[in-house]
Order: sequence, then C-alpha cells, then structure tokens
Amino acid sequence: MKKINAVITGIGGYVPEYVLTNEELSAMVDTTDEWIMTRVGIKERRILKGEGKGSSDLGAKAVEELLEKTGTKPEEVDMIICATVTPDHPFPATANIIADKVNIRNAHGFDLNGACSGFLYALDTAAKFIETGNKKKVVVVGADKMSSIVDYTDRTTCVLFGDGAAAVLLEPTEEEIGFRDSILKSDGFGRVYLNMKAGGSAYPASHETIDNKEHYVFQDGRHVFKHAVSNMADVAVDIMKRNNLDSEDMAWLVPHQANLRIISAVADRMGIDPKQVMINIEKYGNTTAATIPLCLWEWEKQLKKGDNIILASFGAGFTWGSIYLKWGYDGK
Ligand SMILES: CC(C)(COP(=O)(O)OP(=O)(O)OC[C@H]1O[C@@H](n2cnc3c(N)ncnc32)[C@H](O)[C@@H]1OP(=O)(O)O)[C@@H](O)C(=O)NCCC(=O)NCCS
Repeated sequence: MKKINAVITGIGGYVPEYVLTNEELSAMVDTTDEWIMTRVGIKERRILKGEGKGSSDLGAKAVEELLEKTGTKPEEVDMIICATVTPDHPFPATANIIADKVNIRNAHGFDLNGACSGFLYALDTAAKFIETGNKKKVVVVGADKMSSIVDYTDRTTCVLFGDGAAAVLLEPTEEEIGFRDSILKSDGFGRVYLNMKAGGSAYPASHETIDNKEHYVFQDGRHVFKHAVSNMADVAVDIMKRNNLDSEDMAWLVPHQANLRIISAVADRMGIDPKQVMINIEKYGNTTAATIPLCLWEWEKQLKKGDNIILASFGAGFTWGSIYLKWGYDGK
C-alpha cells in the first residue's frame, strides 16, 4: 500500500476592516511610528469591532472562504481544529462555534492552544489524522482576536498585536507532496515571560484580578526576543539539515510575524534570500495563531506545486517549531 501524505488543498483568510495605525496608537500611549517601525516593523493592525464578536467570527469568515474556494460542502468536513489563545469562551471550543456558524455538523472538532505556534501544532496534529487514513477532509484554522486581551494603556504590548484568522484544508494524496516533516517543541520555564495571568483556574476572574490588570497579555519582551531568535532559527536550520535542503532548494520561509528583527535573524541563519521570506507584519502585526496561514493566504497566487516551504514559529509557553511542506498546487 502506498503511503498517504497530507496536503494543503486550499486557503481562506479574513482580517477585519478597522485599521489601527501607529498614528492612532501614538495618541493613546507614549509611542511613535518611528519607534514601532524600527524596533518591531509594524505600521498598522486590524481590529475586530462589535459587541459580542469573538475569534469565532474571524475564523468563520476564513473557513467560509476556504469552503467556497475549494468547492467543499460543509458536510464533507470530518474534522476542524482551531488554534487560538483567545477562544470566544473557556468552553465550548471555538472550533465548535466556527463549525456551527459555517454549518459543519458532526465533525470531530476541538481547540488547541499552542499560542503563536498554535497553527503549526494544529497542522501537525491534523496531518497525522490524514496520514493514518482516519480523516479525509480536515480544516485547520488559526484565529485570534488579540485586541480582546491587550491593554491599550500599555505601550510595551499594545503596539504589537492585531486580529485575524486564516484556515487551510488538508486532504490525503499518494503523490510525494504536502506535509514532509516537523520539529515541534515546548518548555514551560518560559511561561513567566509571556502569559495572561488571570481568568483560568489558578486565578479566576475577581475584582482584584481586574484591578491588577491580570486579564491582559504580559510580556517581558527582551527575554522573549532572545529565546525567539535562537529557538526559531535552531529548528528551522535543523529541519533543513535533516531533509537535505540547502538555501537553493528552498522556495519560501513562512515565519511567525512577531518582530521584523526576529524574522530577519532567522532568515539569515537559514541563508535564505529576504525575497523568499513571507512578511506581512507591517500590515497586520502579530495575530498569534493566524500569522502563518495569513501569509500563505496572501502569497497563494505565487505558490507552485512542489515548492519547498518551511514554516517556523515561536510563542508563549514557550512553544516553538518548524514544519517542512512541499506545496500541493499551482497558485490561481
Ligand atoms: C517587545 C519588543 C518589540 C520590545 O523591543 P525591545 O527593543 O526589546 O525593547 P525593550 O523592551 O528593551 O524596551 C526598550 C525601551 O523602549 C521602551 N518602549 C517599549 N515599548 C515602547 C513603545 N511602544 N514606544 C516607545 N518606547 C517603548 C521601553 O520602555 C524601554 O525604555 P527604557 O529603556 O527607558 O526602559 C521586543 O522585545 C520583542 O519583539 N520581543 C519578542 C516578541 C515575541 O517574539 N513574542 C513571541 C510571540 S508573541
């Protein structure tokens, strides 16, 4: 029997309309466009407005587009995984809410929290279900409404994040394309440097947690930066080595979009030409689980069947990893 490979057969994406610029942020906190552009590389980010709107609203739009573009009927989807750190509610899973909104019924569905590595963790999990023959059509969606957990009086974090979602469809193939390899890691020592302290079982919401602003993202940026560069570059270089890829074999690097300086350092270590690195941080900021699929969504037309692509990420946990794919279809 031939080996079954898992291949991405389509992408959908969504970013909300409202554009939060560096100029607008400069009126809210003590920052400047110049500081944000030189230290991080973000010009603007999208924000989801509207009472009662959550990550599922972003995710549902992305999945709707995905189903339409790939001609997939909702009832054909047999699994949906949502990577998010900003679920609509602690439960039920945002995957279930997205499924309901797009009319996917009876599919195996759950959320996965790998923070900024969430999309890679979810894609890897989905690929295993396809490769074993257990599932035929799996939707993997990265969706985060980061504006719901950002303190817009804290200049060290509020300039970094934005809202967005993107989704891919994974299907089986016997061709030598699709998902090839993954290196995924985590180390909980990093939890003190990047977290949201309250709202879970350790510190449930109380007047005190709200007064202490513990329902917002906390980040010790300098520490996170240092680990992000070395860990992301290590796994990206390792996956190239163990698959005998050198920079000339590579079509694209798709890095998590947290900081332009981190992206450049990783691309440098891999020896990849900056023109082969997908970068859209300037327009969307850090959308957590959505950054990597949003890049694929934007670059889809330029992708060719057989392109060697490496995805690489680093995030809270700490979590980090790399995935090597051979792209499955010519962009259209
Ligand atoms: C957050 C980050 C952009 C901060 O950049 P940095 O160069 O490390 O900046 P620092 O935190 O060292 O702060 C330098 C100074 O700029 C100030 N500063 C911080 N944010 C600022 C802002 N928005 N505008 C102006 N000044 C700011 C700080 O207060 C500090 O001032 P001080 O020296 O007087 O104390 C950077 O550390 C980073 O990208 N970290 C990793 C993010 C990441 O990868 N996250 C993982 C996934 S989410």
